[in-house]
Amino acid sequence: CGIIGCTGVDHVTPVLLEGLRRLEYRGYDSAGLAVLSGGRIQTRKTPGRLAGLEEACRARPVDGSPGIAHTRWATHGDPSELNAHPHLSGDGSIAVVHNGIIENYLQLRRELEAEGHVFLSETDTEVLPHLIEDERPRHESFREALRAALQRARGAYALGVVAAEDPQTVYAARQGSPLIIGIGRAKGEYYLASDVPAILNRIDEVIYLDEGQIATLHPEHGIAIETLDGEPVEEDRKKVELRSEDAEKAGFETFMLKEIHEQPRVIRGLLDRHLDAAGRIELADLPWDREFFRTLDRIMIVACGTAYHAGMYGRLLLENLTGLAVETDLASEFRYRNPKISGDTLVIAVSQSGETADTLASIRMAREIGCPVLSICNVPGSSIVRESDGVLFTDAGLEIGVASTKAYTAQQTAFILLALYAARLRDEVEPERSAELVEALRRIPDAIHYVLERQDAIRAIAEKHHDGASSLYLGRKFNYPTALEGALKNKEISYQHAEGYAAGEMKHGPIALINEYLPVICICTQTRDEVYDKVVSNLKEVEARNGRIIALVTEGDENASRLAEDLIAVPPTLDELSPVINVVALQLLAYYAAQARGTDIDKPRNLAKSVTVE
Ligand code: G6P
Repeated sequence: CGIIGCTGVDHVTPVLLEGLRRLEYRGYDSAGLAVLSGGRIQTRKTPGRLAGLEEACRARPVDGSPGIAHTRWATHGDPSELNAHPHLSGDGSIAVVHNGIIENYLQLRRELEAEGHVFLSETDTEVLPHLIEDERPRHESFREALRAALQRARGAYALGVVAAEDPQTVYAARQGSPLIIGIGRAKGEYYLASDVPAILNRIDEVIYLDEGQIATLHPEHGIAIETLDGEPVEEDRKKVELRSEDAEKAGFETFMLKEIHEQPRVIRGLLDRHLDAAGRIELADLPWDREFFRTLDRIMIVACGTAYHAGMYGRLLLENLTGLAVETDLASEFRYRNPKISGDTLVIAVSQSGETADTLASIRMAREIGCPVLSICNVPGSSIVRESDGVLFTDAGLEIGVASTKAYTAQQTAFILLALYAARLRDEVEPERSAELVEALRRIPDAIHYVLERQDAIRAIAEKHHDGASSLYLGRKFNYPTALEGALKNKEISYQHAEGYAAGEMKHGPIALINEYLPVICICTQTRDEVYDKVVSNLKEVEARNGRIIALVTEGDENASRLAEDLIAVPPTLDELSPVINVVALQLLAYYAAQARGTDIDKPRNLAKSVTVE
């Protein structure tokens, strides 16, 4: 979910709607806003996309200030108007927008119902305004009542609150879900938001709230921050680094296509930052010395979704180059395991947003065990960054398309840099091999350009195969994660069922699916690698059963090409690095299949870009 709030502007409704538009990638099941107007709180809420709320605000205009708003990714309760935020207290004088989950809401709801509170929705959030209302008579100020209410709530929240009795104030509170305070360019203008992009065009400075902090925003009195116990907190303002243009499509039809095309630049930027003229990789910001990497025992990588696929690739590289034992796990699984890790295990969290709840919980668990934590992350100031011992930023810039593209190849690149760096410190890699890899690494941005320039050919293949019920993606070794990621992209944006599989496993099950209709996308670019011939054999097995083969091959390839109905050729590179180039072809394949199927590519149904609940 995404939340936004604002005080200090004359007309808050357009500001809130614009902020929601920029936040919509966090969820788009329903949307709503609450505005203080003539001393009363007025709300508008609609199920579905934001356009519905915009229409509702046109049909029944509402204006005033301050205000709060919300775009929802449903957890408790279906995405109906009733369940949409903001939620109100019984007398309608308190409105709350919330991202997170109040775990003890049922118990609180029962207590409040026993006292006569009447609830309208099925949401956990609705207990909050009632709880504050319940506390209010026992406290001198609204702020104290809010604090007392939050002390009774368990779980995770980022909150925006307005109250009719404080007609200029917006309250913000954070516990376990991301929340920032923005300082407006105009005097007396203050914002709260789930993340910076929502208010990027209105602020230059930001305060990242810490866990358990409450902020009071007032046009004349400014910002006051305190802890849940009422201890005042000194504010720490940071300059906003993102540029407003990052949030625009720059002439592309979608954010996703723009972001796919940004990949050469993003990778080049990472290489410029971390490769010196002699081709040595320096990760100067990491807080660990040579000794640390030499005495390390193992590496445990945790992540979700696309970042997990980057972690799988990272594992293969690190294992290959550093001689360390490396494991990758889904954060949602890892956090409930009893993993055999210790202070000698480096835990690496991979996350675009830096806010994914399961990944965050995993690193908290690892730190409790005493493991050093490195995050590979794209968002400065995010929770995962702040709770890690070291950070390797992916510097991909703002990623708005819900399906991740440039963040993925940046994560892959980060792993290549890290693996080469750790291998050097551990004396595990011959200088010649390292030089060869660096040389090939420098050529990746151009190779991606080459793929992008051939997007029309990829589009033609996607259009030819887009209407099937399903497709199978096969890859092996370094490109097994690429197959999983290609299938995920296809599922996410084209809604066509797709399955990624280790090519060598095909004969143990998926082979039963192969017939003259099933497109099998096979990654066989590993020309120098021992598995190339094996993958070609797998292709023969598909061919023998009349499967429809789309082969991703290296320019000039002969063996695999002969078996394929359609070919996508990419420039040659080292096998270890091929996934960074190959995945771009698969992103485009998914993209054009989605376009042919007429889906909403930047905001595919049911998904959210940043999943801050478990
Ligand atoms: C969501 C997004 C995915 C993303 C995953 C992990 O499910 O839709 O695209 O890969 O979360 O997000 P993170 O921000 O931790 O990389």
